[in-house]
Amino acid sequence: MIKVAIMGYGTVGSGVYEVIRTNEKSIDKKVGQKLRIKYVLDLREFPDDPVMEVLTHDFEDIINDEEVRIVAEVMGGLHPAYEFTKRCLETGKSVCTSNKELVAEYGAELIQIAKDHQVNYLFEASVGGGIPIIRPLNSSLTADVILEVSGILNGTTNYMLTKMDREGLEYLDVLKEAQDKGYAELHPEADVEGWDACRKIAILTSLASGNQVDYRDIYTEGITKITSEDFLYAKKLNRSVKLLAISRKVGDTYCAMVSPALVHREHPLYVVNDVFNAVFVKGNMLGNSMFYGSGAGKLPTASAVAGDMVDAARHLGKIITLFWDPEKLELAPVEQMNRRFFIRVKSDAEPEKLFGDGERIHAGISGEIGFITPVMTEAEYAEKAKDAQIISMIRVEG
Ligand code: HSE
Repeated sequence: MIKVAIMGYGTVGSGVYEVIRTNEKSIDKKVGQKLRIKYVLDLREFPDDPVMEVLTHDFEDIINDEEVRIVAEVMGGLHPAYEFTKRCLETGKSVCTSNKELVAEYGAELIQIAKDHQVNYLFEASVGGGIPIIRPLNSSLTADVILEVSGILNGTTNYMLTKMDREGLEYLDVLKEAQDKGYAELHPEADVEGWDACRKIAILTSLASGNQVDYRDIYTEGITKITSEDFLYAKKLNRSVKLLAISRKVGDTYCAMVSPALVHREHPLYVVNDVFNAVFVKGNMLGNSMFYGSGAGKLPTASAVAGDMVDAARHLGKIITLFWDPEKLELAPVEQMNRRFFIRVKSDAEPEKLFGDGERIHAGISGEIGFITPVMTEAEYAEKAKDAQIISMIRVEG
């Protein structure tokens, strides 16, 4: 029998408990022996919840128990999750996590510590919730050079943008609704400012390149400035606004960015709505491939954590190789990225004079017009935009 522990009994932690208890028989079959929860660590009490039978408030109970071979870290945040994870790995316990902040910040180091102690640090749930994407990148697509890994990586903002598109609502109204429904946090900055998607694309780029990507190096723009007027233009263009996280191979490195983008109706990411996520992967041999599913939520995320625990149980004493070295990858400057830009300017402006031949769009908004520039680099756009008295800009995808 393999004994496991869960650190954190919040949304994901209670989900992991539920997945393991509900699917006990089939999990045992897949592991080849019984897998049972010995501890759940949380500071709170949960009266009338069966979890009380295994609840502990003391991390030392887990660390000092040699029977515990696998630990799910679903506490979130950097501290004490980092210290707890490190001590678990150093004492020969594999750790499975959904904690993207921790993976983005300390992934390479924790993978190395795991390796040094013949255990595994697994993090399928850290990107795309329940969508299998870490494992495919790490094991199925290893014969390919990854040319691009991009997608919609944040469920909360995708839900909000879908609502704005379908119902013509303003940003603050959909934010309130998302908060009422429990999708968005009371302090929603991590989602709406793009920080969550930034950490996730940093993790994916680290795996695609095999080196540590510092998420602080990734240009990140959130959705807080998107308005209902932007969607009027988007509709005229047969497009919608999505928060895209993009990472493309440039020479020996990658260029990565998170920002809202106008996505055409025929683009595969256009149909990714509500809290769903999708990750698009382009390999030099594979061509295009897309991974789609529930990007957030209790059970989808818990399913990925529990799946990692099964994998860890099947590999006790063996290392699952991960290609993620601590050596830092210097990203290509985002200024080199090429694309078209959608701008809103006053109706008497002459954007062609600054930007060259483009496409004018009228969405029936008095006093202004929309304009799509020709393809240019971010640097060229920034230079020309200085004199253009732009009301707002959204990047154009494809
Ligand atoms: N806040 C995240 C999201 C949760 O909305 O996608 C899943 O990582």
